[in-house]
Amino acid sequence: MSGKIPREFIDELLARIDIVEVIDQRVPLRKGGKDFKACCPFHNENTPSFTVSPTKQFYHCFGCNANGSAIGFLMEFDRLSFVEAIEELAQAAGLEMPDTGPERAPDTITPALLESLSKANRFFKEQLRSHEGSAEVIAYLKERGLTGEIAALFDLGFAPPGWDNLAHTAADDAKALEIMARAGLVATRQSGGYYDRFRSRVIFPIHDSKGRVVAFGGRIIGDGEPKYLNSPETPVFHKGSELYNLHRARSPIAQHNHALVVEGYMDVVALAQYGIDNVVATLGTATTTTHLQRLFRLAPSIVFCFDGDQAGRAAAWRALETALPELGGGRQASFLFLPDGEDPDSLVRKEGAQALRDRGANAKPLPDFLFEKLASETDLTRMDGKARLVELAKPLLARIPEGPLRELMLQRLREQTGVHSSGVTPLPASRGQSRPKSNTTQRLTPMATAISLLLQRPGLAAAHGLPEHLDPQTTEPGVALLKQLHGIAASNPELTTAGLIERFRDTDDAGTLEKLASKDHLLEQEQFSPFFAETLITLEDQALAQSINKLVARAAQEDLDEDSKSRLADLYRKRARLRHSREGD
Ligand code: UTP
Ligand code: MN
Repeated sequence: MSGKIPREFIDELLARIDIVEVIDQRVPLRKGGKDFKACCPFHNENTPSFTVSPTKQFYHCFGCNANGSAIGFLMEFDRLSFVEAIEELAQAAGLEMPDTGPERAPDTITPALLESLSKANRFFKEQLRSHEGSAEVIAYLKERGLTGEIAALFDLGFAPPGWDNLAHTAADDAKALEIMARAGLVATRQSGGYYDRFRSRVIFPIHDSKGRVVAFGGRIIGDGEPKYLNSPETPVFHKGSELYNLHRARSPIAQHNHALVVEGYMDVVALAQYGIDNVVATLGTATTTTHLQRLFRLAPSIVFCFDGDQAGRAAAWRALETALPELGGGRQASFLFLPDGEDPDSLVRKEGAQALRDRGANAKPLPDFLFEKLASETDLTRMDGKARLVELAKPLLARIPEGPLRELMLQRLREQTGVHSSGVTPLPASRGQSRPKSNTTQRLTPMATAISLLLQRPGLAAAHGLPEHLDPQTTEPGVALLKQLHGIAASNPELTTAGLIERFRDTDDAGTLEKLASKDHLLEQEQFSPFFAETLITLEDQALAQSINKLVARAAQEDLDEDSKSRLADLYRKRARLRHSREGD
């Protein structure tokens, strides 16, 4: 929905806010030494190992190794997306969010569309209360089992019969009509002028995750085609990312630790009436990656509800395929297949809330669904049937992120087929899966030490240039990273640890940097600078030795040309000078 947030804005934001304040508002902190402490909000503990550093503007838990900037904290604790966390902090800091991306450049259209949609919502609700035809609609909703209370809770409305009831509310304001058209509320007539999109329908407003009305679904009253008419895609409404009822379901989903995904508006409303409120619906489209990511941010488990018929199973399989890359990291998906001819609405009215909850709890885990479906397409009594199963499963399992779930599913495939090699090789234990043991006892290489010190005291960059001889062609993987960090820190003297690390969000280096930022070097404030200088000398010495060794090894194979010879002499000289200066200290 939004483009990239400029780096300068994130820098400024992190410089303006104080992570201690941000966290303290949510998890009360106590001062302990130069840092602040609390019991960790991300795991259960009785003695506080959660530490917030005002100098680094970074938090770290020695118990569970959770760590990050104020942005990261809000993402984890308030379960916000990256952009939402930034919006939240910007608001607290009194900073205006920057324009992101050309499509929203001077964004005057969004507020206008939202205003128009909100007005339309009020109009539809008013019609349900007072229109002469509303008795019939209310009777229909009652017959469907809805209470007035639940209709009010979901802001249900009524679009009366007639071509221009809503368009009329704009009187002859051409600008307002134009906005209504862009919001998908009215369409233009061939002969000029506008007509209402929604006519003679029950109106279900669709809210974004902040609770603002961004679209409508309109159901025909009784039977007829099309049963539902929905708002088109507009600048504020994208079916592929919005979910019906997400704004209300957010905290119930987080509380229950799982989300229930159903297909229909009516299903969401009926379940809510029975007290099941961790429920969202897709908007007449297949489940998308964005949908899943939004839900997995709230809870580690998603239960999909589908018809038990052929079409329902096909839709479930599509959801499974979309879900595979989002799994791992402890996330789960399950499938609840309903009895023929039922949907969650009809079933909850027939069986009650508890029965439906039980069905949810017994939903089929994704791994079972996957293997059962594939097994049904293959004959496992035959050797070539087993081979076929391997071929079918392999590309699917490859889409699951590396980790225990993928391991276990591969293991199951091996058990079912007896195929242990060629294609279903056991995967190497994944990185980052097991927590590093202790934060203080692990020894770091000089490169990691240099990076860690620079992260923790970005100001060191201005005082210490990097050694001239840090060959980018060395095999040392940290060289490029150290140079990059040093460059950023040297030209942005105000950056904190958190600000530096934010620059690497979503890069492969992010995890390493977070760990190095939390590493405790047991140094006093004034010891950082000399220790950093010494580490740089060690690095340069290593780099010189490496280059020397390379040339010497080459000299053993072939005669060195003049250039290489003088380069070698130069390297020896430099190393001698370096060692001499070191001893001289
Ligand atoms: P359903 O037909 O299951 O609708 O379609 P429902 O919500 O259970 O409604 P009732 O109980 O018949 O009143 C599921 C969803 O698919 C989309 C809507 O989002 C609907 O809620 N849909 C369905 C459409 O967009 N257009 C249609 O014509 C039908
Ligand atoms: Mn239904």
